[in-house]
Amino acid sequence: MLKGKKIVLGVTGSIAAYKAALLVRLLVKEGAEVQVVMTPAAKEFITPLTLSTLSGRPVLSEFFNSDSGAWNSHVELGLWADAMIVAPATASTLGKMAAGIADNMLVTTYLSMKAPVFIAPAMDLDMYAHPSTVCNIDTLKGYGNRVIEATAGELASHLSGKGRMEEPENIVKVLKDFFLAGSELCGKRVLITAGPTYEKIDPVRFIGNYSSGKMGFAIAEECARRGADVKLVAGPVSLPTPHPAIERIDVESAREMCDAATSLFPSCDAAVLCAAVADYRPSVQATRKIKRTADGMTIELEANPDIAATLGKAKREGQCMAGFALETNDGEENARQKLQKKNLDFIVLNSLEDKGAGFACDTNKVTIIDKDGKSEYPLKSKKSVAKDVVDYLVKYMLLMMLFLVPATASADGEEMNARVVLNASKIQGTNTEVFTLLQDALGEFVNNRKWTGNTYEENERIACTFNFVVNSYKDDGSFDCSLMVQAMRPVYGSSYNSILFKYEDPSIKFSYQPYDRLEFVEDNLDNNLTAVIAFYVYTIIGMDLDSMGELGGSEFLNKALTIANNAQNLGDAGWRAGSGNNNRFSIIDDYMNGAMEPVRKLMYMYHRQGLDTMFGNADGGRKAITEGIMLLKKAYEDRPMAYFTKLFTEYKVDEIVNVYSKCTPEEKKEVVKILTEINPSLSSEWDKITKNNN
Ligand code: PMT
Repeated sequence: MLKGKKIVLGVTGSIAAYKAALLVRLLVKEGAEVQVVMTPAAKEFITPLTLSTLSGRPVLSEFFNSDSGAWNSHVELGLWADAMIVAPATASTLGKMAAGIADNMLVTTYLSMKAPVFIAPAMDLDMYAHPSTVCNIDTLKGYGNRVIEATAGELASHLSGKGRMEEPENIVKVLKDFFLAGSELCGKRVLITAGPTYEKIDPVRFIGNYSSGKMGFAIAEECARRGADVKLVAGPVSLPTPHPAIERIDVESAREMCDAATSLFPSCDAAVLCAAVADYRPSVQATRKIKRTADGMTIELEANPDIAATLGKAKREGQCMAGFALETNDGEENARQKLQKKNLDFIVLNSLEDKGAGFACDTNKVTIIDKDGKSEYPLKSKKSVAKDVVDYLVKYMLLMMLFLVPATASADGEEMNARVVLNASKIQGTNTEVFTLLQDALGEFVNNRKWTGNTYEENERIACTFNFVVNSYKDDGSFDCSLMVQAMRPVYGSSYNSILFKYEDPSIKFSYQPYDRLEFVEDNLDNNLTAVIAFYVYTIIGMDLDSMGELGGSEFLNKALTIANNAQNLGDAGWRAGSGNNNRFSIIDDYMNGAMEPVRKLMYMYHRQGLDTMFGNADGGRKAITEGIMLLKKAYEDRPMAYFTKLFTEYKVDEIVNVYSKCTPEEKKEVVKILTEINPSLSSEWDKITKNNN
């Protein structure tokens, strides 16, 4: 998962700096490129020589190289990195980062960082518990940084308590999880309501409330980040919606919000209703400004529609719906009533009794309640709360499909239903039109080309995403991009989609000029970009057919294999046989190898015999999945170096953990043993199967 990832590791002056050496080693071992940046104080604890030797790159610490006078550009580092980790992070550096005090190379790099930042604090227990440290950590979390909390244990002071930097193995795990996550909602459409509503009294006055929209917008952003197509119905707020997968529908009143939500809901898989909707509106809206009179005045109000209750009545089986409850008293009791009355699947309670929760602020404190119980969360930034809510939503959608509600499958026509996103935020100082044109051209190419020549039925269109990140671009039109490709397979009888294939291609080099037509000719691979896309499309179609009928995808998988064989002279590392076991060539070469036939059969056993039959027959479906996992084991034993067996366990891990949440301890034990053997690096995930007592 970390192969090819560019990581900036910031090291500060703590006794835990010695652990940075192990951290660098582990990251490099995972295939990451590591650039170490040290504060001057860090050098007192570990030498730059150690870290530069382990990382294979000179360590940066000063703004200028004292020998050559060359400028060390923190801005370039900020654009180069896929992630930054500050480990260990001292109290002093946390304070500087929170306050933006840019007096060393590490903090300037942090302030220029475009990539996600992870912070692993280390200090004495009293320093860690000090209100200023707590406040700085909260501020940093509020800025969207991810803090890897310190653990408890013996400290350098010989005192015992919370302040030890998390172990390097666990920091690497957090990073791997981060890069692994991110597409669970691919192919799903989620409706979100956010912000207040304004109910007009006259042309200049309204009844409204204090909602800023921050909570709902953070949820929209999080859903989009995980691959959903988001419909955000927003009341009057002035927040931006930068993510391209969010379609925003601005409304003002509760009735407008209700109209928009009810017309969108039938085509959505889930809804999160976060808006603070006015329950009443003036019965009459004056067309002219109401003049002041000597006496008081009375405004007669009438009830607005209850949007959540309206959608709750219309909810199809398989659709998941979450609401919020904003309470001032008897929170849990009121929230449970709303859960039931509005036919919600779960409700997020926030109470104005809690400081820092509710309207307008950047933080919230919530309890998520469903019919089976509740989960309480501490005060966090609204971005983190959004993550918790969306985690819950994803889990709920999966469990719904596995154990609860049979529903009808929904899918569109055409062969590929691809969302193509080209993220060029790392590239600066260039005309951005070329990126928009390329993104549109790629979308058209994938979705409009006839890849199969067959007439496909409506429900055979495959939902997938192609997420490109432009790592470098030159004015002559040459690109170097990474690509995350993911395909989903609808599960029969449900609205749940299972990941069929997911792979991150670290580098694709190609050239593109604005308005170039993207074409692909099977026997003339002169365009690396279209060859790569064709390769993935055929791989996906082939695997999809393998999942429908045993070994059913050979025709298309052979086409992918032919492209990989023929593309070897395109000069792109991804096509080169023998250069590592996890480039795109090796994936298809392994998958089509005779010894890996069990893994192709697994596709059928796992999806068609397993997931597709889980409705009404959860045990039977799960048994078939176990048979599939046995096939995976066989393929692993026959070809232990083949990357695909590991890759499969990586992108299926969450689903597998949930599939085995309800079964006998013996079954759990057997499957955990096999999975740990195939992919020991996920052992803590497999352990969740044993621990899960549902
Ligand atoms: O926008 P922020 O400043 O970030 O603040 C966030 C928030 C406090 C607004 C948010 O976290 C929140 O609690 N939203 C729901 C507020 C609310 O109206 O709660 P309620 O308990 O009155 O409503 C219960 C549920 O019914 C909510 O999902 C609400 O969207 C929905 N509802 C309510 C009334 C109505 N007429 N139609 C509805 O759909």
